[in-house]
Amino acid sequence: MFNYECVINGKSINSKNKIQITSPVDLKVCGEVPELGVKEISMAFKSARDSQKNWEDLTLFDRIKYMNKWKELIIKNREHIANIMIKEIAKPLKDSLTEVDRTIEYIDYTIEEAKRMYPEIYTGDGMNVKNKYGIFDRIAKGVILAISPFNYPINLSMAKIAPSLIAGNTVVFKPATSGSIVGTFMSQLSLEAGLPAGVFNCVTGRGSVIGDELIKNPEINLISFTGSVPVGNRIKELAKGKDLILELGGKDPAIIIDGDLEKISSEIIGGAFSYSGQRCTGIKRVLVLEKDYDKIIKLLKDKVNKLSVGSPVDGSVIIPVIDIKTAEYLDELVSDAKAKGATIETGKARKGNLFYPTLISNVSLDMKIAWEEPFGPILPIIKCKSVEEMIEITNKSNFGLQASLFSNNISQAIKVAKQLNVGTVNLNGKPQRGPDNFPFLGVKDSGLGVQGIGETLKSVTRLKGIVINY
Ligand code: NAP
Ligand code: G3P
Repeated sequence: MFNYECVINGKSINSKNKIQITSPVDLKVCGEVPELGVKEISMAFKSARDSQKNWEDLTLFDRIKYMNKWKELIIKNREHIANIMIKEIAKPLKDSLTEVDRTIEYIDYTIEEAKRMYPEIYTGDGMNVKNKYGIFDRIAKGVILAISPFNYPINLSMAKIAPSLIAGNTVVFKPATSGSIVGTFMSQLSLEAGLPAGVFNCVTGRGSVIGDELIKNPEINLISFTGSVPVGNRIKELAKGKDLILELGGKDPAIIIDGDLEKISSEIIGGAFSYSGQRCTGIKRVLVLEKDYDKIIKLLKDKVNKLSVGSPVDGSVIIPVIDIKTAEYLDELVSDAKAKGATIETGKARKGNLFYPTLISNVSLDMKIAWEEPFGPILPIIKCKSVEEMIEITNKSNFGLQASLFSNNISQAIKVAKQLNVGTVNLNGKPQRGPDNFPFLGVKDSGLGVQGIGETLKSVTRLKGIVINY
């Protein structure tokens, strides 16, 4: 049983009420975290505000020293963190270790980027204005509320926390409840690293219970949120006057114009089914022309049937989805498709929250699965009459995170990519957030603002100008 405490104002904080964390692996309780409320939330924000100026007044060099101490403790506890992830979110060991390593690289790269975020100097000469220098520096925004999703409990938390702290902000962090054992453990390491009191605070509690209280706190300058569209919309509604960075859901299409269908099918399988499809950048529908339709179904079906299904402990690709509620939603999507005439090419009745990889053909646009984000191992294949229809279907979605476009004709691919209303188009590759120095963004319901190390550093800072008249 894992149980770690929260951190507020440089102290470890517990509570008599606890949230029990159920492991998706066996649906048994694997740990507990404090259930904090209004009082602790205001304490966390007050200490973040009270400590922010002194933290920002440290040199970047000194802030980096604290961050490196925290990072070293994460490295030292790499296997332990991975073992928590296996239990807490059913992420296989290899993927969990990769996520921890990716987080370390993220912190290192952020430090390098921050060191080179030099002030910019402008002159007025070009505007026929003499004897005037403008020095524009980037300064911390202040207090940042970081809220992370369950599927990358350390990477998508640190991806907000590290840039925020290094740039001189202070942070109140709310991990996803499934992910809060990792979150509280990581937060305890911040105490061991000796971060000054109030600079980093971790508050646990169900988002549905304490979410509004968090979002409405007047001390917040920026909310950095990663999660679902409904919660993102709630934040937009309540967060009056606060800066927002929202990384939300996706319904990334794999658009097949032409190419080696064998290779394309392998890329689609990886993009659609890794971590049981619980990735925002997962491939969540295939758009294919009639000429390739039968062949791609066969190729995908063969590969889906070979996917390992089981427990993260044995390193299976298809592992139990995060909870029963998600599995029931996936059932609903499949039943809706079947009732409207779809063919279920693969998949069998789920065992609790172990949902078998499901490939669906004969998908029509009146089916929910054509448009909704399953966040599970379901892949619908939509037959299209033309490339124009593929563009239309892609752009009709309320989501606009990424897309994959497979074509041997680079100039055609670029022309099509330019017509897709998404954040990023991956030519001949699956969608993905990494490499983490790349800008990462969603449009429409998929997000607001831009992440990616350099862009995140910009989003957690603002310009401050000093003009010299001489
Ligand atoms: P979620 O249910 O929206 O939860 C995300 C975070 O928001 C959790 O910490 C959650 O806390 C908290 N939360 C819930 N209700 C809240 C409220 N009313 N106010 C404030 N915070 C609240 O999402 P998830 O299930 O963790 O992750 C899956 C979703 O996130 C999918 O839609 C996926 O596409 C999206 N996602 C997007 C990206 C991206 O980079 N674009 C990355 C990963 C995931 P609790 O856990 O306590 O409810
Ligand atoms: O859903 C998490 C999102 O950030 C995907 O990350 O690196 O698996 O594409 P990645």
